[in-house]
Amino acid sequence: MSELKNVAQVKENIAHDYLQKIKGIELGLPEYNDRTRQWRTALLFNNQSLGLVYYDAMTGDLDKGKSTSISILKERLDLIKRKENSKRKTKRKKRDNTYYVSPLKHDLLINDDAAHALRELPANSADLIFTSPPYYNAKTEYSEFLTYDRYLAFIKKIVEEATRVLIPGKFFVIDSSPVLIPRIDRNHSSTRLAVPYDIHKIFMDLGYEFIDDIYWVKPEGAGWSAGRGRRFAADRHPMQYKAVPVTENIMVYRKKSDHLIDWFIKKNPHPEYVEESRIEDPYEVTNIWRINPAKDKRHPAIFPKELAERVIKYYSFKNDYVLDPFGGLATTAKAAIDLNRHFISIELEKKYFDDSLKDLNKDYDMYLNSGKIKVIRN
Ligand SMILES: C[S@@+](CC[C@H](N)C(=O)[O-])C[C@H]1O[C@@H](n2cnc3c(N)ncnc32)[C@H](O)[C@@H]1O
Repeated sequence: MSELKNVAQVKENIAHDYLQKIKGIELGLPEYNDRTRQWRTALLFNNQSLGLVYYDAMTGDLDKGKSTSISILKERLDLIKRKENSKRKTKRKKRDNTYYVSPLKHDLLINDDAAHALRELPANSADLIFTSPPYYNAKTEYSEFLTYDRYLAFIKKIVEEATRVLIPGKFFVIDSSPVLIPRIDRNHSSTRLAVPYDIHKIFMDLGYEFIDDIYWVKPEGAGWSAGRGRRFAADRHPMQYKAVPVTENIMVYRKKSDHLIDWFIKKNPHPEYVEESRIEDPYEVTNIWRINPAKDKRHPAIFPKELAERVIKYYSFKNDYVLDPFGGLATTAKAAIDLNRHFISIELEKKYFDDSLKDLNKDYDMYLNSGKIKVIRN
């Protein structure tokens, strides 16, 4: 083998090593990495990646350890061909080229059950959903479910209803965390439910695209109150180790769409809003978001406005409608107003709803009295 100086030489090597052995595959454009001094090329079938091959630029040798094996490439090719055949048999849907604009004319503060309120909303009326669902039995102040399965069925119903309301291609961001069910006595252990991972399955089953798992990290002291990790801290025996939870999972999903994200940016009928919504420095580069939790005597589980602000800034444009089906004290709504977005906030409990209204009256009275908000009680 000899030095690989250009794309043509890389392609020649791949033709010899791969294309002769697997019929019908194509090459992506070889890319040179000047750090590893390797050429990397994707092997494709109908624009879908089957795998990657790596060549050393200096010696021209194939890096077998990093490259996808021929047997895996063949199996993937076979799978894709079979999938495409069965797709061809089912009728082809026409591409939806509509740029949906929310038909709503008011911001909505709704006191109702989320499933019912969502059913009353027009389809394609929210540009972003950000919410934190009630905890499973963690705080009996505002929710209690008979079993964990019933809880997941409840979440599924809300996500389904909300999906109709969310515009295709837009984002659904959901904050949840594992829940600890305390032990019943010293002869039993506690149970930890991996709530975000079970909710993830709901989104996948509904055809959402998984975009990001962001970790909202609270200061270290925040987790001690749950008692987790104390036993280990005292005894230090292996196997007893329990990590003190200081994170919540902010999972980001995108509703199925016929278009890439760029299409939404180009087609937005208000280029001025697109421009004004650009995110300035500093912005959060990684999926670790360090934000202090919020406290409010009136509600046991609010999230900080800073968290809602970040999500709204990163996933919506100015003037968009942001929906929170579990509004609590309307934190999402308040952040939406501050960022020149519209909101739909739904809350079941009258006391939280009344407090939200009070807050809006106090801090956003101009906005509330402008006739832009509709208050709906069911
Ligand atoms: C985790 S809290 C959300 C708090 C909110 N993010 C905030 O910062 O104020 C969940 C909220 O969902 C509400 N909730 C529970 N079941 C509901 C339902 N079926 N429909 C609407 N809201 C509900 C609870 O009363 C609670 O306020």
